[in-house]
Amino acid sequence: MYINPSFFVLARPPCLVIWDYKRHTQFELDPDYSARLIQLIATPEQLDPCNSMDAQFLAAGLFTPIQQVPTPWGWDELSKIFHIGTKNIPCEYMPQDINEWSQHYLAHCKEVMAAAPPPPRCTFDGPELIPLPDPALSVARAAGLATTLIQRKTCRSFTPRAVSLVDVGTLLYLTLGYLHERADDDDPAIAEGFAARRSSPSGGGLNACDGYLYVRNVSGLAPGVYFYHPDRHALQLVAPLLDAPLGQLLAGQHFINPLPVGLFITCRFDKLWWKYEHSRAYRMAYVEAGHLSQTFQLLATALGLNTWLTGALSDAQVEAQLGLQETSAEQALFFVGCGHGDGQAQCQELRALIAAQDAP
Ligand SMILES: Cc1cc2nc3c(=O)[nH]c(=O)nc-3n(C[C@H](O)[C@H](O)[C@H](O)COP(=O)(O)O)c2cc1C
Repeated sequence: MYINPSFFVLARPPCLVIWDYKRHTQFELDPDYSARLIQLIATPEQLDPCNSMDAQFLAAGLFTPIQQVPTPWGWDELSKIFHIGTKNIPCEYMPQDINEWSQHYLAHCKEVMAAAPPPPRCTFDGPELIPLPDPALSVARAAGLATTLIQRKTCRSFTPRAVSLVDVGTLLYLTLGYLHERADDDDPAIAEGFAARRSSPSGGGLNACDGYLYVRNVSGLAPGVYFYHPDRHALQLVAPLLDAPLGQLLAGQHFINPLPVGLFITCRFDKLWWKYEHSRAYRMAYVEAGHLSQTFQLLATALGLNTWLTGALSDAQVEAQLGLQETSAEQALFFVGCGHGDGQAQCQELRALIAAQDAP
């Protein structure tokens, strides 16, 4: 007998939870079953199909008569478990044509909507809202999409020079704001409360991602971190800047310390869980953050600013800066920033080191 190579074990006292992440099955083992399983893991050849526990392990697919080759991966176990564990999700019902799909989809929406969605962040407690200037749509329009796409690049050499509040308003409205221009898309097929639309697509139309503006040098705004209210096009102070350079919050990437402004993109996982019960939806959180990040970068480029991005967050420090809890349903995923600089892909210090290395 051979051990199924695709299960992992969670300690849930007094039981063990056995999770076959490839077949999407879970079993809870009491201490007797747990002890027997541990014995068999060491000596699978001792599995006895006439023993009731062993027979159940066999039936559960934890042991197999034919050796299973583990899926080749080449990366760490955790990424393998997550990727395979969120792949080939069993589908209770697969619609066979467009009519079946429509009926099924409508029924699913009704089922989801039977429970109230997680509420948006409340605007009424805490510091006053700071209204932002109207976005400069004409400036963004004039830049031209193809030119902007070609010009966007990652820069790692910024000066602290201020970014204007109008630019910040344009960036935030066109990245995260709920577009007034689309408010008239009066589509009866869209469920009540889900009409808000951004310039980027959003998983399930939930707008689960939010943005916290990092302000070091924006004209007319005190340094600090502000929550952006996409429905109001307004900011709300969350916290003054921590007494640590930005690079400290971003895994030691200190070349970014002078950056005048940036955006921490967070995701409200509770909104995703509400509509999508499987952890595959976790993948969508990052995809959505990526859309927002790219939109931000294209806009900043169109406004004549240099851009930078990172997913390397020093999570505990970022949470402290954003006022989020480690266990909160809202988690920080990504950071994207912009400002003025020399447009170089690397900071001067690194360029000098490279030049010194290359010198004869
Ligand atoms: C998901 C993602 C994460 C990234 N993380 C970092 C980062 O931590 N630090 C950094 O300096 N650049 C980061 N980058 C930027 C890439 O290094 C950059 O996009 C790549 O070198 C290509 O250069 P370009 O953006 O100028 O085309 C990241 C890019 C992406 C898409």
